[in-house]
Amino acid sequence: MTRRKKIYEGKAKILYEGPEPGTLIQYFKDDTTAFNGQKRAALEGKGVLNNRISEYVMTRLNTIGVQNHFIKRLNLREQLIKEVEIIPLQVICRNIAAGSMSVRFGLPEGQALPRSIIEFCLKDDKLGDPMVAEEHITAFNWASPQEIDDIMATTLRVNDFLCGLFSGVGITLVDFKLEFGRVWENDFSRIILADEISPDSCRLWDSVTNEKLDRDRFRRDLGNVIESYTEVARRLGIMSEMPTVIQGGKGA
Ligand code: C5P
Repeated sequence: MTRRKKIYEGKAKILYEGPEPGTLIQYFKDDTTAFNGQKRAALEGKGVLNNRISEYVMTRLNTIGVQNHFIKRLNLREQLIKEVEIIPLQVICRNIAAGSMSVRFGLPEGQALPRSIIEFCLKDDKLGDPMVAEEHITAFNWASPQEIDDIMATTLRVNDFLCGLFSGVGITLVDFKLEFGRVWENDFSRIILADEISPDSCRLWDSVTNEKLDRDRFRRDLGNVIESYTEVARRLGIMSEMPTVIQGGKGA
């Protein structure tokens, strides 16, 4: 027996070598973190829920032409993805003031923004993911001006699509974080969407009550984290495997 090769371990996911060159296996952990890893817990079933929700969202995005790394779900916790050269940026898109933007500008949480705003943060845990400007991104060669344009256009498209998708099931998309990567074809690269889209990476509020259905339930000790993620999955109509989650199935 040989152990499969671990390529990278992050706070909530592990990447393993895939079965074919150019592929990886993305494993969703139950580990949940906040405040750059300072607060942590394992919430049984979270990885299963995020794997399923991210599969659903990425598949839907693919149908509207937003190319992304998702190939297929392999099992409860794993999906086959395209290997990309990750761009070291977190791309945050906001529709409503919340979280760090509310703190930074003294805006009440829940205040609608005049238009959707995109922010960039450098992906660097040691530095606490500092916010960066396009000037830094191009000067330090993290991405080219053309790549930034592509990333911003894709992010706004994802925002439009997700706002509609979630509002159709009674959920307001407050903000979310995306990550992108390069795929190479001979001498040419293009940018595709990578990582995950789940209640870990989005702020999702019930449209009627404004109840939080996302990682803020963990960050702010609001309780019922798994129940809220399950509710998001249920509303999206992807509940078939969820009883296993509630019973704490590890699934592999
Ligand atoms: O904390 P902040 O308000 O800047 O987060 C904006 C959005 O980006 C939230 O939806 C949050 O869940 C997401 N985010 C993330 N991972 C990070 C930082 C933020 O998914 N490391």
